[in-house]
Amino acid sequence: IKKIGVLTSGGDSPGMNAAIRAVVRAALSKGIEVYGVRDGYLGLHQDRIEKLERHSVSDVINRGGTFLGSARFPAFKEESVRREAIENLKKHGIDALVVIGGDGSYMGAKKLTEMGYPCIGLPGTIDNDIAGTSFTIGFDTALNVVMEAIDRLRDTSTSHKRISIVEVMGRHCGDLAMHAAVAGGAEFVVVPEKGFNKAELIAQIDNGIAKGKRHAMVTICEHVTDVNALAKEIEAHTGLETRATILGHIQRGGSPTARDRILASRMGAYAVELLLDGHGGRCVGIMKNQLVHHDIIDCIENMKRPFDEEMFTLSDTLF
Ligand code: F6P
Repeated sequence: IKKIGVLTSGGDSPGMNAAIRAVVRAALSKGIEVYGVRDGYLGLHQDRIEKLERHSVSDVINRGGTFLGSARFPAFKEESVRREAIENLKKHGIDALVVIGGDGSYMGAKKLTEMGYPCIGLPGTIDNDIAGTSFTIGFDTALNVVMEAIDRLRDTSTSHKRISIVEVMGRHCGDLAMHAAVAGGAEFVVVPEKGFNKAELIAQIDNGIAKGKRHAMVTICEHVTDVNALAKEIEAHTGLETRATILGHIQRGGSPTARDRILASRMGAYAVELLLDGHGGRCVGIMKNQLVHHDIIDCIENMKRPFDEEMFTLSDTLF
């Protein structure tokens, strides 16, 4: 291996820059050249590929987002598009590609691997929804953003004796909602993995009111229900003013936490190690604080992310 490429794809996440930096610096330290691809698979297809030097990744470890840019590029599902992308990589003499992103990005890396082009996937998403890893790059930062938002909402909802509903991202994974509920001391958490029973939620809130509670915090994962309509129903039922807050893309931004920077740095350097050891078609994870790697095809086709029952039960127990 003499030259490797690196790209970030899909929804950005804080810590992606730290991961790119680690790939670049670890590779350069082994005498390998690194090429950055702009805007994910889109830039790969458009041949927007440039050589990265040591200084290209100076002053980025603390910055959210990704300086390489990211994009969602559904056309990459077409084999002809991917073939052109591989031609571009070959034209630059790039032997392998490190892909930093979520499950859509992993799918692209899997397809390239199946076409004979070696890729290493690093889990970069705030959703924490990738199989084969306990944590993804960006999750911890987003979690801290949500926790801080809950703290702020608590101040005002307590003052006004209101019920607050906070909708958090996660796509179809409840990790962000559950962890934030525990960290922020929210009374209720609703996650897609457990289904949503509106009547039960309202009954639980009622129960809290009967016990003398005059405010409540509900953390709910996006795509479960319309939170503004839910707020109206809860208000009508309980008689307590209820407000819904959709945190949205604020959760994706900001300077990465130390935990995310370190995770990204470890994973980026590990990706280079794997390539040097002759591994391709792998994806990197962290389990019990140990770096691990799996076959990327197996990861996508067969591995499942276990639901964190303990975290769910804890949020319920501490209510
Ligand atoms: O996958 C990251 C994520 O932020 C999800 O939590 C969310 O559902 C989605 O991306 C939003 O996508 P977009 O930025 O394209 O609106």
